Amino acid sequence: MMDTLKIRGGVTLNGEIRAQGAKNSVLPILVATLLGKGVCVIENCPDLEDVRSSMRILRLLGCAAVFEGGTLTVDSTGMTRTDIPECMMREMRSSVIFLGAILARTGQARISYPGGCELGARPIDIHLSALRALGAEITEKNGDLECRASKLKGSEIILPLPSVGATENIMIASCACDGVTHIKNAACEPEIEDLQNFLTAMGARINGAGTPNVTIEGGAPMHGAKYSVMPDRIAAVTYLSAVAVAGGRVKISPVVPEHLASALAALSEAGCGISAGKDYIAMSREKPLCAIRPVHTMPYPGFPTDAQSPLMAMCTKARGTTVFVENIFDNRFRHAGELARMGADIRVEGRVAVVTGVEKLYGAPVACTDLRGGAALVAAALGAEGETVISELYHIRRGYENIENNLKALGADIS
Ligand code: EPZ
Repeated sequence: MMDTLKIRGGVTLNGEIRAQGAKNSVLPILVATLLGKGVCVIENCPDLEDVRSSMRILRLLGCAAVFEGGTLTVDSTGMTRTDIPECMMREMRSSVIFLGAILARTGQARISYPGGCELGARPIDIHLSALRALGAEITEKNGDLECRASKLKGSEIILPLPSVGATENIMIASCACDGVTHIKNAACEPEIEDLQNFLTAMGARINGAGTPNVTIEGGAPMHGAKYSVMPDRIAAVTYLSAVAVAGGRVKISPVVPEHLASALAALSEAGCGISAGKDYIAMSREKPLCAIRPVHTMPYPGFPTDAQSPLMAMCTKARGTTVFVENIFDNRFRHAGELARMGADIRVEGRVAVVTGVEKLYGAPVACTDLRGGAALVAAALGAEGETVISELYHIRRGYENIENNLKALGADIS
């Protein structure tokens, strides 16, 4: 049967949600388990398609991986293979991080270009030039990347832009380097800090994550570790946006409110009442929403590109006009066309989208265009009149655990 969601909108949402572990933390963490021979126990692991894809890759490489009750146990002692076939590489973007880890562990690797959400061109040139700077020889043959490094050597790497994935790849590879690696203009996302904490638990000597300067002293012996993944800030914003569209009250925990600061500011400007405690956010949306100042997506701590589409769903019903400027990816407004099918008024011109709030959204058949774009359709459907049928759900399954049950628990009419 085709996987679709049916949502009958117009019900206010009330209740509590337990936030899932962060997808964009757990994926590089699972890759990093390759660095040491031994057992890693990863707690608060969300059950997502991308996590399942990572487990398949780990098993193919010769590791044991077992997922039970939110805990993923990886034993990388028996790793034998050093290549990942194209079909597995294509399943997600973070497959490219395996390159740094396999090289670090074995001195050779063969992979192809990664897949992931289609958000415009997503080159991996920064990953490759950084690994070359650490001493890897990388050649391209028929779409395969053949990599060798008899010895990786620490180096200073200045990133041309603060790429999240490249920062992670370098951090992981540098653990096996002779000498010290300095990453300048590193990405500062909280997920980078989570990776640093995990690497430290495995024995690495690394500091600076969360700032633009990360330093890794290579060569420390790496071993198994037990680690709990941080809460998913983007899933939290998604649920908050859904309640903002539909109206109601929600409490989400555990979260790190500071990770959500820029998104909370936008929700509050639109008229939502927000209070944050040490590890929770409570939000209510009682009065009508109003448009907000232009939203510019930026590297952390700026407004996250991953929260752009859920927030846009909210703005389709906010009185006035809100401008979105997407600065990270060249083509991340594909959800706008689907929102328009529900009656939204959105004009897209390159990297700018102009959203004029409408009185009502209407249920319609729509299709997910990518992970966060799909989540935006769910949010909009909850605030629309009548029934919305959402197809191409596999996009959502890659990043949201249990989305229908979480929303059902808030009172949503969803099946
Ligand atoms: C990570 O992707 C996230 N994915 C993305 O989340 C997120 O949108 C993105 O960071 C930005 O925050 C994971 O963590 C698995 P980048 P990543 O390298 O690492 C350009 C989601 O919905 N670039 O920081 O791929 C690139 O094209 C996903 O959960 C190069 O030009 O992002 C983009 O314009 C989607 N060359 C910009 O940098 C490179 O070698 C930022 O990309 C690498 C990147």
